[in-house]
Amino acid sequence: MQTIRGFRDILPEQIALWQKVEQEAAALFESFGYREIRIPIVEKTALFARSIGETTDIVEKEMYTFEDRTGDMLTLRPEATASICRAYIQHKMYAAEPVRKFYLTGPMFRRERPQKGRYRQFYQIDAEVFGVESPYIDSELIFLLHTLLRRLGLEGLSAHINSLGCPVCRPDFQKALLDFLGERKDNLCENCKRRLVKNPLRILDCKVETCRQALEGSPATVDHLCPDCRTHFETVKTSLEKLGVDFMIDDTLVRGLDYYTRTAWEVQTTTLGAQSAVAGGGRYDRLVEELGGPSTPAIGFAIGFDRLVEVMEQLDTQVCEKGPDLFIVSLGADAQAYAFEWSCRLNTMGIRTDSDFRGKSMKALMKRANKVNAAFVLIIGDNELAQKKLVLRNMATKEQTEIGLDNLVNDLAQLIKN
Ligand code: HAM
Repeated sequence: MQTIRGFRDILPEQIALWQKVEQEAAALFESFGYREIRIPIVEKTALFARSIGETTDIVEKEMYTFEDRTGDMLTLRPEATASICRAYIQHKMYAAEPVRKFYLTGPMFRRERPQKGRYRQFYQIDAEVFGVESPYIDSELIFLLHTLLRRLGLEGLSAHINSLGCPVCRPDFQKALLDFLGERKDNLCENCKRRLVKNPLRILDCKVETCRQALEGSPATVDHLCPDCRTHFETVKTSLEKLGVDFMIDDTLVRGLDYYTRTAWEVQTTTLGAQSAVAGGGRYDRLVEELGGPSTPAIGFAIGFDRLVEVMEQLDTQVCEKGPDLFIVSLGADAQAYAFEWSCRLNTMGIRTDSDFRGKSMKALMKRANKVNAAFVLIIGDNELAQKKLVLRNMATKEQTEIGLDNLVNDLAQLIKN
């Protein structure tokens, strides 16, 4: 049996980088007042269709959707934003506090063509803020992402920023786009021909080469912003400049989900080939209301966790994996019984202790202690037990200390803690 295409195991040997990212992210989010939220992996299909958009690639082609036994249409979540909005509305979170900030880490599912940096089950680190219209929250999120990536040692990634306008200026832009595409209609793919009527903005995100060519020189949303959107975007830019965050204005950036309004951004890298976005996000000021909640400005981003780890691996980021505090080498049946008892007791006292009950030779067990990178080794054999004296070896300094059998667990704990 093998994993299915696009799905993979992340093995203990690979996990150090994942844990490092998770810890750094959680610490940073918490310091900015974000709280963790956990939501289901399966939701009603309608939630994603309505929020991400019926004419997006995700909804049209990539969702894992199935009918459950009672006939409900369900979908494995392709992203987290829609579900977090659903939870925000369902639990009336707006009633308790006017501003809510969340973060989440977990698997998402999209049936894309698998390749490097692209999986069918992939992981995201997601952050969302509800209830703040101010452009400073846009900058806070971009700054947060920038800071996290720097802390993880990723320099030189470029943040591409755009403003997609709002319902006030969108119709003006849409008209300019349709006028522009008027004579180029025939060059569009069949999907985009449909999108011309249903959702012209989606054409801007089409990856088909003929569509890309047809779009050359197309109007930019930033040239059609209403005064409020323009002021909002200006403040985002100036506040980021003040903080020294590197970014570039990219008026071709539209993102692949329909819910965005105003600021949208992506962090891109060239190290993963075609899969260039490590993170992406934006405002979605209309979504909570469209899903049945009160009118609530909202904004967030998601990091592609798999891609982030792959970039870190390419940069040869090393995380030193901490071995156990103590490894007990036990030789013989009696020694094993002691090793078992002491290792359980020491672990409950906060001393991370491992041992090996395979009955191997001293040489093999010392080799294992080295391999697992133990800080100390305790050796127990018949002689040691007879003399009621054991040797504790500091693996870094090679220093050896004798410990009496009486009160051994407490003495060991003291020695190792020091
Ligand atoms: P997204 O751009 O669809 O946005 O995904 C965010 C990130 O997830 C991408 O930049 C990419 O790094 C990663 N990603 C997407 N698909 C895959 C895949 N098949 N394999 C590996 N990584 C992938 C969202 O999902 C929005 N919910 C972000 C957001 C949050 N907007 C507002 N709040």
